[in-house]
Amino acid sequence: MAQRVALVTGGMGGLGEAICIKLAALGHKVVTTHSPGNTKAQEWLDSMTKLGFSFHAYPCDVASFDSAQACLKRVAGEVGAIDVLVNNAGITRDTTFRKMDKASWDAVIETNLDSVFNMTKNVIDGMAERGWGRVINISSVNGQKGAFGQTNYSAAKAGMHGFTKAAALEYSKKGVTVNTISPGYIGTKMVMAIPTEVLESKIIPQIPMGRLGKPEEVAGLVAYLSSDEAAFVTGANIAINGGQHMQ
Ligand code: CAA
Ligand code: NAP
Repeated sequence: MAQRVALVTGGMGGLGEAICIKLAALGHKVVTTHSPGNTKAQEWLDSMTKLGFSFHAYPCDVASFDSAQACLKRVAGEVGAIDVLVNNAGITRDTTFRKMDKASWDAVIETNLDSVFNMTKNVIDGMAERGWGRVINISSVNGQKGAFGQTNYSAAKAGMHGFTKAAALEYSKKGVTVNTISPGYIGTKMVMAIPTEVLESKIIPQIPMGRLGKPEEVAGLVAYLSSDEAAFVTGANIAINGGQHMQ
């Protein structure tokens, strides 16, 4: 079987890096995107090379359809057709709704939800034509249950799963699965940006396991959903949150 091409948006972030490493270890050719303004991209690539990984990296503003389209055209021409798309890039602009301005709303909806359209639109019909594909959307427990200070983020992440279910139906007979993973709080810089006092007093106590998740734990689930074994899983929203969804 030819080596599959997997593209991970935001693959240089906390979760993305673990996902890239896991998919590479499974034998995929791994492509990551980074923000066009990311000045540390080459440094990250060099550090991965030292660990024995040779990833392909492309600038892409996932919030812009034109940027996504141009990036995906380059990837198709230079690396190959994409078999596995992991829509992972995302941001937070946390603030209570009372204080939230339109710019914070727009930034989160465009980066976390419009990005799913921008990226998926440019690859999924190719997957369908080839009869095999995987789209994996990284949502959040906070899209399932809401979170104080995250009306924008919770709306975008819940919207992602609506997209998953509808697209899963449309592509179910084409060998393409579309699924959502909803992680709980994972120890990356996104979570480390939460004030320590809030993390310790309000968030950790809501997690039955009493700890943050590890990026590798989420990457293992991405690996499963990207495999042939997961062919019968589509339109699912898989929780991975230390039991927080039951709180
Ligand atoms: N539950 C209940 N009350 C809360 C609360 C919470 N989680 N967080 C804050 N409050 C309360 C405070 O106790 C305070 O109450 P009083 O006014 O009665 O004293 C009030 O809200 C503060 O309100 P403000 O409008 O002044 O808010 P602030 O400027 O202090 O900031 C906040 C509020 C931005 C929500 C801040 O608390 C925060 O950053 N919280 C963390 C939000 C969060 O969980 N983000 C997740 C980021 S990680 C991620 O998103 C990954 C993922 O998918 C899991
Ligand atoms: P992170 O370390 O902050 O990484 C986020 C990544 O998104 C970065 O690599 C960043 O790339 C990329 N990105 C942001 N805006 C972008 C844009 N406009 N165009 C292209 N790339 C952009 O966060 P993380 O914790 O790994 O989060 C990854 C995903 O998991 C997010 O969707 C997040 O919502 C979700 N999630 C995280 C947690 C958690 O607890 N950490 C829980 C549930 C869900 P640059 O650095 O190049 O800008």
